[in-house]
Amino acid sequence: MALEAIKYKKGKLEILDQTLLPAITRYVPVQGVEDGWKVINKMQVRGAPAIAIVGCLSLAVELARESYLDKSTVRREVEGKMNYLVSARPTAVNIKIAAEDLIKETNKYYKNDDISVDEMVQSILKFIEGMLEKDLNDNKCIGKFGADEILKNIPEDSLVRILTHCNAGSLATTGYGTALGVIRSLHNQRRLERAYCTETRPYNQGARLTAFELVHESIPGTLICDDMVAALMKSRTISAVVVGADRVAANGDTANKIGTYQIAILAKYHDVPFYVAAPMTSIDFDMSNGDSIPIEERPEREMTHLNDQRIAAAGIQCWNPAFDVTPAHLISGIITETGVFKPESLKDLVSSSN
Ligand code: MRU
Repeated sequence: MALEAIKYKKGKLEILDQTLLPAITRYVPVQGVEDGWKVINKMQVRGAPAIAIVGCLSLAVELARESYLDKSTVRREVEGKMNYLVSARPTAVNIKIAAEDLIKETNKYYKNDDISVDEMVQSILKFIEGMLEKDLNDNKCIGKFGADEILKNIPEDSLVRILTHCNAGSLATTGYGTALGVIRSLHNQRRLERAYCTETRPYNQGARLTAFELVHESIPGTLICDDMVAALMKSRTISAVVVGADRVAANGDTANKIGTYQIAILAKYHDVPFYVAAPMTSIDFDMSNGDSIPIEERPEREMTHLNDQRIAAAGIQCWNPAFDVTPAHLISGIITETGVFKPESLKDLVSSSN
């Protein structure tokens, strides 16, 4: 069974503390928006889709507990608290899009004179709870589209070797995963020879989380250090790279975990297809290209220490950007729940939806 990063029942939310993995499996309660902001900011829950869902669910827990006298208070609470949650981490766009959708939906209930304040709260809860199921279904579709795309040019009796970076698996979503969902789907179809995952310094999402998921689900996996990617591509045939995304700009430029960009360059050099697997809620159609994507910088302690052990010379200055932007021209395709798109064709999705 896939690992469960988020446990939710009406009025009760717990998240698997990912800072403790793989050594300790401990769920922490999230009793409201203040807790929600903290677990996102401290990266106890991380990964763009999981951040959005936990943020919204932390509000749901609060709404379910409180009682409200009027609809305008509910509207104010939703707007203020969602805008606050968006500030917990700046790069992943999913929570910003979720906040916009939720505020729009709330306004609709506010303006509808046929519903009471209680009905308004219940409708908001239902809307938020719907995100859980949608994310899981979207991930399964991403997995299927991604596997089909990769296998398109592979002889039927051959197996594939996939490289991924960071963690875009069950732990970063409500389940199944995006990039890891593609790997999972290939494995389920018995077409995966091996998944390679990078360590993903400095936070080690690859070594701690992706490796943990691969072992947990008996998917054949091999861990490499971040500086082994070129050697891996030169010495073993890698069929494709598949990574997740924190924000895809309208032209296809993609922000993802630091180190993604250099892997994309290496993939181009070695003629390995490079895919981004992400739900539509990771696409920021308001941002024309990747230059304006805000890049979070994390504390230097994440680089200088491993747990409490200092591993870097005391006194050295550090630069710790958590994400980088891979230019669209290095990306072979963006795998979404509705299909696989060339980066340059993303803009057609906006015009066709208008
Ligand atoms: O800093 P993190 O661990 O939140 O970064 C996560 C990533 O970069 C993932 O690849 C991305 O959010 C996609 S998760 C499906």
